[in-house]
Amino acid sequence: MHDAVDKTLSDTLRGLVRVHERTVQTLSSHAGQHDLPVLPRPIELQEARHSLSTLLPQAGSGTEETTTHLLSISQAFNAGSLSSHYYGFVTGGVTPAARIADGLVTLYDQNVAVHLPNDTITTDVEEQALAMLTQLFGLADHADNTNDSPDWKLRILTTGATASNVLGLISAREYVTNSQNHGLLHAAKQPDPVEKVKVLTTMGHSSLKKAANIAGIGANNVIDVAAHGGISFDLTKLTAELAKPGHRSIVSVSCGEVNTGAFATHSEAEMRNLRLLCDQHRAWLHVDGGTVPCTLSICAYIPLMPG
Ligand SMILES: Cc1ncc(COP(=O)(O)O)c(C=O)c1O
Repeated sequence: MHDAVDKTLSDTLRGLVRVHERTVQTLSSHAGQHDLPVLPRPIELQEARHSLSTLLPQAGSGTEETTTHLLSISQAFNAGSLSSHYYGFVTGGVTPAARIADGLVTLYDQNVAVHLPNDTITTDVEEQALAMLTQLFGLADHADNTNDSPDWKLRILTTGATASNVLGLISAREYVTNSQNHGLLHAAKQPDPVEKVKVLTTMGHSSLKKAANIAGIGANNVIDVAAHGGISFDLTKLTAELAKPGHRSIVSVSCGEVNTGAFATHSEAEMRNLRLLCDQHRAWLHVDGGTVPCTLSICAYIPLMPG
C-alpha cells in the first residue's frame, strides 16, 4: 500500500519536474522576443494531430507516458498567449503573476462561492479580488477598504460572460416575479398565474437567449427594442414594452457587442435614464459587459466608460 502511494507520488513529482523544465525552456526561449508567432507551424499541428487517440485504452497509460504524450502535443497549442501582450480572440494572454497563481490553483483545486470560513480562505480571496475589480473599473471608492461599498455588495466570479448572464437573469427573474421578496417558488404557488417575464434588449449576445432558456424565461421572450435594427435603444418601443400589462421586464444593456465593441448606451445620462425607466416599471436593469469592461479599464477608451 505504502509502496503504491510512494510510486504515485514519485511519478507525479517526476512529471511536474518535466513540465517545469518545459515551462522554463519555453519561457526563456520566448523572453525578449517581440514577434511571437500567433499560431503553431502547420507541421507541429499535423504531428500533434496524428498522435491524438480517439480510442479509450484498455488500461490507463500511467503518469509517465501521459506526461510524455502531453508534452509532445503541447507545441501545437497557441503559443502567442504566453505573452501578456497577446490580445487574441476574447481570452487574451497571461501575466507572469497570473501564470504562477494558475499553478497554485491547480495544486489546491478549491471551489469558490461556498462560504466555509473555518475550512478555507477561498471566499475571502474571491471577495478581495472582486472588491479590487470594482475599484479597477471605477465602480467603488478606492478609500473604502472595508469592501462594503453599498452599491456592489453582491458579487461573484463566474466562468465567463455566459455564466454571468445566466446568474444575472436568474437574479432578475427572482426579483421581478416577486416584488415582496418571497422568491419564485412562493410566486409559483400563488392562485394567480405568475406574470410572464421578458428580456428587453438591443443586439443581445447569443448567450442572452441561452441564459433566458436556462432561467426558464424562454428565448422567445427576449425582445429586441433597438432603433433601426442597430444597438441603440428605441426608447418609445422600450417604454411601450415596459408598460404592457401582465408582464414583468428585465432590461439588458449590451455593453460591448462581441464583433464591433459597440455600446447600447452612449453616455452616463442615457444609462441613468434607463435606470429611471426600470425603477418606474419595477423592471430589473442587467448589463451584459462581456469582456469589454476589462479592456476598457486598461486601454485608451476610458472616456467610453460612463456609457
Ligand atoms: C457581450 C457578451 N456577452 C456574453 C458573451 C459570452 O461570453 P463567454 O464566452 O465568456 O461565455 C460574450 C462573448 O463574446 C459577449 O461578448
